[in-house]
Amino acid sequence: MILATKVGDWLDERVKWRQVWDAIFLRKVPKVNWLYTLGSATLFLALNQGITGILLTIYYVPTPDNAYDSVQYITTQVSGGWLIRGLHHWGASAMVVLVLLHMIRVIIYGAYKYPREITWFTGVVLLLVVMGFGFTGYLLPWDQKAFWATTVGTRIAGTPPLIGDWILQIVRGGQELTAVTLARFYGVHVWFLPATLLLVTAIHIYLVIRIGISAVPKREKK
Ligand code: HEM
Repeated sequence: MILATKVGDWLDERVKWRQVWDAIFLRKVPKVNWLYTLGSATLFLALNQGITGILLTIYYVPTPDNAYDSVQYITTQVSGGWLIRGLHHWGASAMVVLVLLHMIRVIIYGAYKYPREITWFTGVVLLLVVMGFGFTGYLLPWDQKAFWATTVGTRIAGTPPLIGDWILQIVRGGQELTAVTLARFYGVHVWFLPATLLLVTAIHIYLVIRIGISAVPKREKK
């Protein structure tokens, strides 16, 4: 018996991991099509964003004096830095596209209906989280485009009557875009949103496995 199987058996006798493995990977699924891979593709990109994002934090410095230079340094000096940054940058856009396509598939197939309402609800939270990642991440390179896009974006957030100014102050950490804004966006981008993504994705996937995937809807024969 190969060593891997022996180790696997040894562990299974103690922690029963094969039950979990079978429930995830050997569960029965209806005959589906390629559109059902959009959720897993989004999951794969989330993993890519997590790994490349962690690697970027090794050199990225979230202060107005250093942010721009540290991003230039990553792109031009760090070996493979251009690739890691490129994967994170394009991965972010691809994730927004895929999460929307996944949602459109769910809408068109009516997969949000009973008993999958909570899966849908967790999906809505995930959509907001993905948009939050995009919004906060855009400021981090601290170049002209980032600065002015966030100036406009936060101003829009501050437009509701009565509470608008209060929202603007919270988002910017003051009246203007400053070091506090950058620190705030960085904190939300690398701590708050990833923690929420991890938790809500776990619930989302748990529900997908527990309830089972929906079948492709068919027209009733008369
Ligand atoms: C980070 C974002 C997301 C990830 C990683 C993700 C992941 C997944 C995966 C792997 C599946 C099973 C395979 C599939 O149906 O494609 C799934 C199913 C599902 N997702 Fe998502 N999802 C995300 C966002 C969303 C959004 C934005 C919605 C809707 C608002 C949503 C609603 C659903 C529903 C209702 C199902 C069950 C579909 C069925 O049973 O046919 N998800 N998701």
